[in-house]
Amino acid sequence: MVLTPHGFVDPPTQFVQSMLTKENVINGLARKFYDGDTKKAEATWSDLVEEDLMRFFYEEFGQGPPREERPYNFIIYGASGYTGSLVLEYIFKNVQDLGTKVHFALAGRSPNKLEARLQEVLERYPSSYKPDILRIDLSTPLDIRKMVLQCRTVINIAGPFMLTPADMLVEACVSFNCDYVDVNGEVPFTHKLLKYHDVAKCNEVIICPNAAGAGGIPDIGAYYTANELKKIDKQQITKMHMYLHGSTGGAPSGGTLATRAAMSGAMKDVASIMKNPFALGGSICGGDRPEDSDKNLTTIEYDPEYQGWSGPFTYAFFETRLIRRSNWLLANLDNECYGDKLVYTEHLLFPSEQAARGVASSNTNSKKEEETLREQGKLFKLGEGLSEKNRADQWTEYYFDAETVDGTKIKTKLVGKDGYDETAHVAVEMGLLLSVYRDRLPFKGGVLTPAVAGGMPLVEALKATGLEFGIVPEGEYPDLTRTVQ
Ligand SMILES: NC(=O)c1ccc[n+]([C@@H]2O[C@H](COP(=O)([O-])OP(=O)(O)OC[C@H]3O[C@@H](n4cnc5c(N)ncnc54)[C@H](OP(=O)(O)O)[C@@H]3O)[C@@H](O)[C@H]2O)c1
Repeated sequence: MVLTPHGFVDPPTQFVQSMLTKENVINGLARKFYDGDTKKAEATWSDLVEEDLMRFFYEEFGQGPPREERPYNFIIYGASGYTGSLVLEYIFKNVQDLGTKVHFALAGRSPNKLEARLQEVLERYPSSYKPDILRIDLSTPLDIRKMVLQCRTVINIAGPFMLTPADMLVEACVSFNCDYVDVNGEVPFTHKLLKYHDVAKCNEVIICPNAAGAGGIPDIGAYYTANELKKIDKQQITKMHMYLHGSTGGAPSGGTLATRAAMSGAMKDVASIMKNPFALGGSICGGDRPEDSDKNLTTIEYDPEYQGWSGPFTYAFFETRLIRRSNWLLANLDNECYGDKLVYTEHLLFPSEQAARGVASSNTNSKKEEETLREQGKLFKLGEGLSEKNRADQWTEYYFDAETVDGTKIKTKLVGKDGYDETAHVAVEMGLLLSVYRDRLPFKGGVLTPAVAGGMPLVEALKATGLEFGIVPEGEYPDLTRTVQ
């Protein structure tokens, strides 16, 4: 039984239990009542009056202030890295009302690195607003609680996620009424969070992993496509396919390479999750339909409609899971899914068979990819990635084709910038919706996908800030000769 300002909580969550160790309680009592003397605290704490003890537990371990009274709209955790620099860049370039309506802070395990990253971004994008910097170690439950109680939303960009205790951060968010956004692209990490869905729904806390370029944008694109198709035909959607076509000059950051290595290293333990097309939920016909098999994502074949070649896309093995979860969540929360028999697939789109086969072989051979990146001078270390100048001419097009049960079809297109810029874009816009405009959102709680958490308000926010959404007129196809090295 734990005492909080909202009464007794029974049973306490694992997170609250992890804070309430004897050591934490004695250290807290010593700080508060015995000038730091832990021996004296241990020997004489039972002499304290009950009212003082109750106040101590409220302050030290209780629920803290309500969401709307917390000083920061959002805290960005792990902003000292490469994605952190882009998130800061995005905020200083685009977010209005800093210091008036919008207050944020940076948190991480290395305040010096956070300060250096902040200064580097402020030199390029000067601002009179300077976020506070908090030292927060994710392996310390009291640190996590301290951070969560100071904000309405945590935006977590510290990865590889599966190597951090960020699931404890999520549990603290669920326990202490704070929304959560992250940019992870790791099925096993998102899978680890699913167990919080029911309690997050019940506590009206939104947990939104995968709010990023990979994962988030196709998820939002599928949501937009389904909405547009349902405007002309309300029937169930049976098929949706996404083609990704983009410039070829992009490159993974050092953090992304470390994340891929972490996933490969853990493959023995996570293989069954990775192989499951419905690892994040939404299974149709028990998950055994041949059309949902991952084999369908590896095909290399000519598509006469697009006059191009389809090839396997590494992130399809992640994004298909996410979009299937969105389909399930919409049925679960709104009783209105995309389609109760939806088949969702993704591929890359290439101008030639040779190009498709070339990328397919480097996708499955990380050594070969590393060699190519080294030759191009793009094998980045931790904390590094493509420069702002080199990202400027990168672009990505997403083509969605969807069809209803009675054959009504639609083709839509999203056009974005470099995937890392879009990651900053989606994460910050999602964080702003949660922490400033939460009343606009369609659902109040759960472990949600970006599309379901953000809904149309997220589509509108991304549209207003540069991600292009549109319906493709009949006969218009991508220009497959358009590539940038
Ligand atoms: N889905 C997508 O589209 C997408 C896009 C971009 C990034 N990402 C993911 O985001 C993550 C970050 O990428 P990045 O390129 O920014 O990497 P990075 O430059 O290496 O930065 C990693 C950040 O995480 C922090 N961190 C790492 N382990 C930590 C731990 N155990 N406790 C606390 N902080 C920790 C680091 O803090 P220190 O400075 O203290 O080391 C640093 O701030 C990666 O997992 C990447 O895959 C996903």
